[in-house]
Amino acid sequence: MAKVLIIVGTRPEIIKQAPVIEEAKRQGLDFLFVTTGQHYDYGLCTRFIDEMGLPPPDYSIHLVKRDPVEQMGEMMVGLKKIVEGERDPLLLVEGDTNTVAASAIVGRKLSLTVGHVEAGLRSFDWRMPEEHNRIMVDHLADILFAPTEPSRQNLLRERVHGNIHVTGNTIIDAAIRNTPLAVKQSKIRNRIRFEKYVLATAHRAENVDDAAVLANLVEAMINSPLPVVFTVHPRTDKMLKRFALRTRLEKSKNVQLLPPLGYFDFLVLLKNCSLAITDSGGIQEEATAPPIRKPVLVLRVSTERPEAVRFGFAKVVGVQRDSILRGIRYAIRQNRVPGGKSPFGDGRAGRRIVHSLLTYQRA
Ligand code: UD1
Ligand code: UDP
Repeated sequence: MAKVLIIVGTRPEIIKQAPVIEEAKRQGLDFLFVTTGQHYDYGLCTRFIDEMGLPPPDYSIHLVKRDPVEQMGEMMVGLKKIVEGERDPLLLVEGDTNTVAASAIVGRKLSLTVGHVEAGLRSFDWRMPEEHNRIMVDHLADILFAPTEPSRQNLLRERVHGNIHVTGNTIIDAAIRNTPLAVKQSKIRNRIRFEKYVLATAHRAENVDDAAVLANLVEAMINSPLPVVFTVHPRTDKMLKRFALRTRLEKSKNVQLLPPLGYFDFLVLLKNCSLAITDSGGIQEEATAPPIRKPVLVLRVSTERPEAVRFGFAKVVGVQRDSILRGIRYAIRQNRVPGGKSPFGDGRAGRRIVHSLLTYQRA
């Protein structure tokens, strides 16, 4: 019986594979846990493994290079060595990062079975490295776990080779399980200077690596009618410094800067904010989870999560200062808690994914 290698490389992959790992333990799936080293800071990687009660990784790759091509090359060599020590494992990847693309290529080249969690998302924005990764991986995978029916339709339209299962998104499982624990344990609210606030994150390459776009985001935060709590991703921190924008934020009384937070602290801030402004994919999904339900303004010109827009949780406001400010003012005026159920599932995605994997493992 082939083992399943559950592979993660970045913060959101850990959060979204955690419910799969939990279910794997519960249902007796034979698995190994692998980290590729793409995210290497404690605060972006190990903190999440610890916080979510995951086992220590069975294998960890340590990357030397940071350039995407060299990074993917190192990951592929590292994964090949791991795979060679196991008997024809099934590789299970999640999402759209370079880790996911590197792993799927290794799996295909070594004729292993590749499973892709969160298959079928499409932004149709060719500037995004994530869009390249999604398309590559969906066409290389044998098993495609699509979170929603629209994502299944994207896969059918592209005539992918693998078998498609609609499961929901595991981030909803994670939010349902962890929000009550987070509310009990997190002390983050004592650190927040404002009673009511907008929660902000931004890290997409096409936003933060572009000086004009990043300046727009900074100006929108400084001029927001509600104060902003901004948790700063290390990529963004680097670019804010490079473009001499960080001091402008530091001087603003309207903005509180925080380092990347742990999952529990972040869930509590999201649960208690008036609205979120973000270019994150995961936060668009998380905001629809029953224990959270918050409006989200998407700081992008596209989204691969149109379900969040259709269900009234998210609005794509672009990356211009004024369009973002208009969006914030409108959301405050509406003062509406999005109702209804999450388009991303019922919190049982992990269970469905593991159930399918067991069928493959026992076949
Ligand atoms: C990556 C993913 C993105 C995902 C995000 C989650 C790709 C192409 N991008 O973006 O899809 O949404 O993770 O957060 O795979 N850095 C650190 N410490 C770390 C990790 C990164 O300081 O632990 C800094 C480094 O300067 C690094 C830069 O961030 O060069 C970019 O890191 P990288 O992993 O390439 O991409 P992310 O922007 O994190
Ligand atoms: N998140 C976190 N701390 C932060 C910012 C985000 O724990 O300071 C979590 C958030 O709850 C969500 C996930 O990180 O589950 C989203 O990851 P990210 O925005 O880095 O990547 P994306 O989802 O865009 O790929």
